Amino acid sequence: MSTPASRLMGNPLFSRIYQDIWRPVFTRAFSHGSTETADYDKALRAYLSRPGERLVLDVACGPGNYTGQIADGLTGDGRVIGVDFSSAMLRTALATNRSPRAAYLRADAHVLPFPDNTFDQTLCLAALYLIPDPLPVLDEMVRVAAPGAEIVVFTSAAGPVSSIPGVGLFARIGGFRIFGVDEIIDRLHRNGVRHVEQSLIGEGQYVLGSKPD
Ligand SMILES: C[S@@+](CC[C@H](N)C(=O)[O-])C[C@H]1O[C@@H](n2cnc3c(N)ncnc32)[C@H](O)[C@@H]1O
Repeated sequence: MSTPASRLMGNPLFSRIYQDIWRPVFTRAFSHGSTETADYDKALRAYLSRPGERLVLDVACGPGNYTGQIADGLTGDGRVIGVDFSSAMLRTALATNRSPRAAYLRADAHVLPFPDNTFDQTLCLAALYLIPDPLPVLDEMVRVAAPGAEIVVFTSAAGPVSSIPGVGLFARIGGFRIFGVDEIIDRLHRNGVRHVEQSLIGEGQYVLGSKPD
């Protein structure tokens, strides 16, 4: 389904300004302009790019703004694969976040082209809210995660502003979904994900969990 937001994601010019201009502003917008989401994001980036030999899947990687940084931290045979279905975003990823330890692939997040139990970490950041049928994407992320693997999500959550009547409908017309505070964690629990930790900040949520061993 084409929405204003999905058309933006396919725009080559937007893919070029996304990492340095759009994403930092949008990240702060989640915490109403304060640095709270930006601070969490900084800590998350440091965590995701910690040194180690892992196989990581970055679902809906956009221009590779996390993929490239994760690749920089990997050691040995560690690899990260960024998946997106916007060819404009993937071209920008190759131009700006290329790394010997990163690979980019065009695919739909609903049908991840990987076997079960493959990755040590699967993440989907700032994307589920743009996907018309997002919860099956979580199922896929858990399916391809190896036993014990970590699942990491950043997305919207109904907060003080988005809970105002009419705001959700307005956002949805633009192609942006506002999740109920339990929707993501409930779906992860239904998939057997354990140790689910949710941090609600303003209009957003960071969720971490692990697939059972
Ligand atoms: C806002 S960007 C997020 C980029 C990056 N993950 C971040 O955190 O900044 C959202 C991305 O989701 C991608 N996307 C949306 N629906 C998708 C789907 N069904 N399968 C794969 N990628 C999708 C878009 O093409 C876009 O690049």
